[in-house]
Amino acid sequence: MSRLSKLSRSVAGKVVLITGAASGMGKATAELFADEGARVAVTDINGDAATAVADRIVASGSEAHPWQLDVADPARVETVVAEIAAKLGSIDILINNAGISVIQPIDSETFESDWQRSLDVNLNGQMRLIRACLPHLRAVEAPRIVNVASTEGVGATAMATPYTAAKHAVIGLTRALAVELGASGATVNCVCPGPILTGMTEPIPAEARQKFARRRVPLRRYGDPEEVAHAILGLALPAASYINGVVLLVDGGLRVQNT
Ligand code: NAI
Repeated sequence: MSRLSKLSRSVAGKVVLITGAASGMGKATAELFADEGARVAVTDINGDAATAVADRIVASGSEAHPWQLDVADPARVETVVAEIAAKLGSIDILINNAGISVIQPIDSETFESDWQRSLDVNLNGQMRLIRACLPHLRAVEAPRIVNVASTEGVGATAMATPYTAAKHAVIGLTRALAVELGASGATVNCVCPGPILTGMTEPIPAEARQKFARRRVPLRRYGDPEEVAHAILGLALPAASYINGVVLLVDGGLRVQNT
């Protein structure tokens, strides 16, 4: 049988580092990459939950290794990235997924500290992981960086300034590095999920979620974390070698619906 395609649609054997991988989209992404044969570093601020996710993946016959990692802790980022590279031999794919929702009106008393916290986790965390992983990514054949932004990165919701500003900046980070790192063969892209049912959105009452989805989302429902995981996987494939600097909406059509 002849192979018609020159490029691989497989991440089998690739080492992938995922942040915030103990819940929601990070967890779904860890499980999907593991299913596809990747060797997954499951990292999360919640070390026990990361271990539980990795244990389940291993029990299903795939490869995963847990690490406790707070992306807002620069020293810990350096240590964990070095440990992952030493233990797994390389880092091929970085998925910057960890994030927190920070909702505060601009005139709230705690605004300044909430703003700093949001930028530190949602934006600076991604920058730190990229800087720490870069020497390892530069050493592999098809390096991939996928950052998780949000539809809040291309639009805005009242009271969400700390989150919205950070997610807009994630798109800026993605585009700047897509240009800067292009010569090294690394691609840098981001996904912008719309409303997805995860730990972040679970506190919203089910009725309010349904009402929002019926009114705002052409597909009339919240997304499943696995639907975002597949978009991330697509951008991380060796065959995605000419996709660079894109902002991929995974929002059920939310951003294209006018009324
Ligand atoms: P989630 O709350 O289910 O999962 C987030 C994970 O990140 C948790 O396991 C949490 O422990 C971890 N985490 C939090 N702070 C951390 C830190 N400092 N260092 C390392 N890990 C940390 O939330 P979800 O929804 O799966 O969020 C994943 C990403 O998707 C986030 O970047 C979020 O902003 C983004 N997003 C979520 C949307 C949604 O509707 N759920 C929509 C658009 C974007």
